Amino acid sequence: MSSTQSLYRNEESSADRLCERILNKQAKVGIIGLGYVGLPLALAFAENGFSTTGFDVDDAKVQSLQQGASYIGHIPDALIIKQIEQKRFQPTGYFAKLREMDVVVVCVPTPLDAHREPDLSFIRDTAEAISVVLRPGQLVVLESTTYPGTTEEVMLPILERSELKCPPAAYSVIGNEVQNESEVESDFFLAFSPEREDPGNKQTERSMIPKVVGGVNGTSARAAQALYAQVFHVTVLVSGSRVAEMTKILENTYRCVNIALVNELKLLCMRAGINLWEVIEAAKTKPFGFNAFYPGPGLGGHCIPVDPFYLSWKAKEFEFTTRFIELAGEINTAMPDHVVEGVAAALDQRGKPLSRSRILILGVAYKRDVDDTRESPALRIIDILQKRGATVEYNDPYVPYLAKMRKYDLRLTSAPLGSDSLKQFDCVLIVTDHSSYDYSLIVKESLLVIDTRNATGKVREGRDKIVHL
Ligand SMILES: NC(=O)c1ccc[n+]([C@@H]2O[C@H](COP(=O)([O-])OP(=O)(O)OC[C@H]3O[C@@H](n4cnc5c(N)ncnc54)[C@H](O)[C@@H]3O)[C@@H](O)[C@H]2O)c1
Repeated sequence: MSSTQSLYRNEESSADRLCERILNKQAKVGIIGLGYVGLPLALAFAENGFSTTGFDVDDAKVQSLQQGASYIGHIPDALIIKQIEQKRFQPTGYFAKLREMDVVVVCVPTPLDAHREPDLSFIRDTAEAISVVLRPGQLVVLESTTYPGTTEEVMLPILERSELKCPPAAYSVIGNEVQNESEVESDFFLAFSPEREDPGNKQTERSMIPKVVGGVNGTSARAAQALYAQVFHVTVLVSGSRVAEMTKILENTYRCVNIALVNELKLLCMRAGINLWEVIEAAKTKPFGFNAFYPGPGLGGHCIPVDPFYLSWKAKEFEFTTRFIELAGEINTAMPDHVVEGVAAALDQRGKPLSRSRILILGVAYKRDVDDTRESPALRIIDILQKRGATVEYNDPYVPYLAKMRKYDLRLTSAPLGSDSLKQFDCVLIVTDHSSYDYSLIVKESLLVIDTRNATGKVREGRDKIVHL
């Protein structure tokens, strides 16, 4: 989109040829991992005129895309069908085709394993799949969120099994351009560029989110910057892949720690009889030095509950303990238990034991207006409530059923939401504040509403039925 710095030197190198193909939109782009990050990115490259191939190991996803069917709520089928018909987007499970790509962008999962340590198996598998087809002049970019060092220490050695080299070399950045570059001969190019999408955010267009890019060496950085400048309005070049990796972890750790802070303050304010939501609204009026974060029933999603622990794991290598991260994790993971205790106490006050109560959970997605339930606190809350003997149902307009997951086997179907059905529950527990819910009506028709998100903050009638947790 924006013009990029010229890469041409006197002698045409493979980097020059690659950048020429990028600038002419002749470069073939391959995206590995067609999930919440990879699929929209693939479509963005296709929409911007690049022949884009999407690779995934999940045959069901590939087949669904080949038929033009989206599995992500906010991506309409029509968008996929259009790009397939215009032959700009080809989903495939045939990884040998990676060799035909000029650029390969990796968007595979980076979860925690059973011991809450980084699980880099998806990145390693992908790097191995690339290494067997890698050819000179290709650019590989990792987008998966991970600890600083992954691109150089994990991806690079696997890719170099191909016998092609991409030597790490220092460079600096001045004026968003590579400067003071050490001269190295790179057969292929390797960079890291974090994904910063904010699911459910309809205000910020994806292409308007500045794209941070850091290369393993200066040539890799320039090639990756040239690539992303075709799709994003602003690129932010940094002086290495480690800096780019750390940038993403800083952003998510900042959120995680600040959410823990307001969660802790919420517990204090509840004891002190102060409405923290009102406090935050008042504090927000300060025009500088305060960013609002909100308390809730616990952290969810693929990123905030997971990413900081990638950093705390890596910190051990330097005999360093990331105390803020550990403390934030402790506070945030205790929130679902706190919610259940609050539900039990509110029911108790109405003479109803939790074990004989019917509870309706509103919203099981991890955040407002998305269909993603990964790490959602709702799952843990349902699990604890069931273990304590309550009968639990849920409603979520974005999540028609809860299938078996790695941690939970709840197998529930979203219950219909109506005036009659609400009255049948001893308690309606708002876990995710989807904007399509009519909160006034929900309060009017329910016996007791427990609100973990201040969704009912503006409801005027029936306030005696609302308990804020
Ligand atoms: N979801 C978000 O909002 C978000 C935001 C920023 C960053 N991230 C990061 O982006 C990365 C991807 O997250 P996501 O939400 O898209 O995950 P996802 O689970 O939605 O998608 C990952 C895809 O990769 C595929 N896959 C797994 N192993 C593969 C392999 N070896 N080869 C090819 N495909 C493979 C899976 O089948 C899946 O379709 C993670 O590191 C995540 O932390 C996610």
